[in-house]
Amino acid sequence: MNRSISEAGYSDGDIDTNHSGNLSLESIVAERWSRRQTLFGGLSASALALFGTSMLAACGDDNEAPVVNAGQNGASRSGRMVTLAGSAEDKQGIDSVRWTQTGGPSVTLEGADTNTAKFLAPSVGSDTPLTFTFEATDAKGKAASSTTTVTISPAALGFAAVAHNKNDVVTVPEGYKVTVMTRLGDPLAAGVAAYANNGSDTNFAQRIGDHGDALSWFGLNAAGGRDDSGSTRGLLAQNHENLNVQYLHPNGPTNVSSGPRPEAEAIKEIEAHGVSITEYRDSGNLTWAWVQDSAFNRRVTPNTPVVFNGPVKGSALVRTVWSPDGTKGRGTINNCANGFTAWATLLTCEENWAGYFRRDDSGDGSDNAARSPRELTALRRYGVTSTTGNYAWASASATNSVFRRWDARATGASATEDYRNEPNQLGWVLEIDPYDPASTPRKRTALGRMGHEGAWLGKLAAGRKLAVYMGDDARREYFYKFVSSANWDAADAQAANRLAIGDKYLDSGTLYVAKFNADGTGAWLPLVFGQVPNRPATGSEPEYAFADQADILVNTRLAADAVGATPMDRPEWTAVNPVTGEIYLTLTNNNAGGRPLNGTDPANPRHYNDPKGASNQYGNANGHIVRIRESGDDPAATGFTWDIYLFGADAADADPANVNLSGLTADNDFSSPDGLWFSRPQNAAGMVKPVLWLQTDDGAMTDRTNCMMLAAMPGTVGDGSARTITNKDASGATATQATRVGAAATDASLRRFLVGPVECEITGVDSTPDGRTLFVGIQHPGENGTPAAPSSHWPDSQGGTPGATVRPRSAVVAITKADGGVVAL
Ligand code: FEO
Ligand code: CA
Ligand code: CA
Repeated sequence: MNRSISEAGYSDGDIDTNHSGNLSLESIVAERWSRRQTLFGGLSASALALFGTSMLAACGDDNEAPVVNAGQNGASRSGRMVTLAGSAEDKQGIDSVRWTQTGGPSVTLEGADTNTAKFLAPSVGSDTPLTFTFEATDAKGKAASSTTTVTISPAALGFAAVAHNKNDVVTVPEGYKVTVMTRLGDPLAAGVAAYANNGSDTNFAQRIGDHGDALSWFGLNAAGGRDDSGSTRGLLAQNHENLNVQYLHPNGPTNVSSGPRPEAEAIKEIEAHGVSITEYRDSGNLTWAWVQDSAFNRRVTPNTPVVFNGPVKGSALVRTVWSPDGTKGRGTINNCANGFTAWATLLTCEENWAGYFRRDDSGDGSDNAARSPRELTALRRYGVTSTTGNYAWASASATNSVFRRWDARATGASATEDYRNEPNQLGWVLEIDPYDPASTPRKRTALGRMGHEGAWLGKLAAGRKLAVYMGDDARREYFYKFVSSANWDAADAQAANRLAIGDKYLDSGTLYVAKFNADGTGAWLPLVFGQVPNRPATGSEPEYAFADQADILVNTRLAADAVGATPMDRPEWTAVNPVTGEIYLTLTNNNAGGRPLNGTDPANPRHYNDPKGASNQYGNANGHIVRIRESGDDPAATGFTWDIYLFGADAADADPANVNLSGLTADNDFSSPDGLWFSRPQNAAGMVKPVLWLQTDDGAMTDRTNCMMLAAMPGTVGDGSARTITNKDASGATATQATRVGAAATDASLRRFLVGPVECEITGVDSTPDGRTLFVGIQHPGENGTPAAPSSHWPDSQGGTPGATVRPRSAVVAITKADGGVVAL
């Protein structure tokens, strides 16, 4: 591996010929160091190898110490692996060598007793020299040493952008490896058969569910205890949002649109929803596998007993025949994004639950006559209107409550004789202790009921209140924040009774909804009984007067309407920059029906056409990302500033003046942002200028590419400028709209990192605390295929050549860098 100095690009001859021995070597190194500062200053090396050279070689005799060389000085960046390559020669032979660090931020040297040592470059805020000494001892015990310096610069994106593609694999940058982890149907207990993947499998209460969505890593130590820095053993908690139902049964589902459904099919579909918790292990050198028989493995399904906490506990609005006092419930469904707490629990979020219920708002089977006007307003506002419910589960049995509960019609004499209030039992944030498989999850009703996309904690500060940021994903819905009553006490982070800490911070507080002003400011409007006016009559709906705080929390959308919140273009995930505390919110898209030309506002400003082949797509087909900064950086602030961090666009056909406002290129254009996550602050990707990961759930740009994930290094709110754009609708009418555009994207600030397989959505992302493994969810590959002709064969297609009828499966992938560096850097 040794190269001569000239090969390595160094040619200062005076040092090469100065064989003056060890006494003067350090001064020589110092001299070299000052020169190399200039030489390496402008380089952006990737994983850098500093090779020893022959400059002092082969001059020892019998009584002399070894001739050693610690290699050239060099440069690298935070999060990258650096190789130190020393050389040592001696006529008696070298007995031992050792690398030691002599200066700069402390690093862990791997292979310190070999010629070639490696270390992970630490996070630095400015160029920082690290010095290392390489010492060799010969067979007679004589030792000599040499020193080298590596200058570490702050973290930067360190991969080549992945090109658009429509391949049936997960594509990652060169130098990265993809390991397929848990897939739909994988068994989570000893004795459960491997997944046949032909529709014959049963018992999803002990298998990985379908449509893996948001995921979070909870570290373990070797003894199996919670370890927040555990990076080689941990629990992967994943949401299972929905189904590719056609692949769950041998020949697709029976009578899925209207019933009657076979019970065996319906129970399988129900149990394939919810949450999974699976132990993952790295057996060494980033070799990942999951543990089928781990005692930690758990499924939380729509049938798992849960309890209600917070202001809605016991409310008449959540009482049913199964929960006559309104304190308990069953399970969770359509879990989309999530969050996790500082006390190491999972916050899983119930998104599109409304569609699962049979009620019938208009047809022959309607229960409208048995409902009050207030109930009807609430049911319609949340979309509980279906005549059958998704998958028609209620049709499987009129008596077994596992199925009957999905029939929300008022058929009994009172609410405790039927399931008319079952829809009010869903739409919440559910807190789960992933470390205790026997624990009962708790619905945190103080956080409101909506199409909860996610629930992300704001940056914590001791002695201040805690904030949770949440999107409600439907067209023209709102952006929310919950602020705890209690002030954060850092000692609570390590409490043994984690759900009790959840009680402390998440059961009592104030729910707010966001209003965005044209001047770049915004306000958090409290949803507090007594302060919320009646919701005015709209269309055929009468005025709605709130009865109490439980009513406001169950009917959060009505309360947000009443206070005049800003309707948004489908609020999806929230993410919090761990350094600045700024909060990001994806707004995935909207269409002309959801928001016409005259429906724009400064925070939802675009209305345009993104052509897809021969089809027009008017509205905000590609979505955007809003970000805010709380006034005074206070989680409890009632005011904020905002701008639009990025606008999605198809760079190939978008007007740069009015549509491609972030200056996207083929290397970083995207559409329909959804998943959003900042790298963990325990590693270099999340420390100085944290890396933001951005995932898409797109249908607008899929003529050019499958869905994707990008890595970004964003600036701050207000780093761009105010702009006025001209919008245009399908009729050719135009209108201007003022907005606030963040700094344009550059190759250094936004790059495509991954493209997924056919017909997938990329959703779910977390890393090990060390940042060396990134876990990413691939959801619903092949969603438009049939059992006879699947349109994707992923993950079998990842590195294999599956048969034409192999069915696709949602799965998690572990992405690692071949050299073990921090992913993305
Ligand atoms: Fe389940 Fe809003 O994505
Ligand atoms: Ca989502
Ligand atoms: Ca297009």
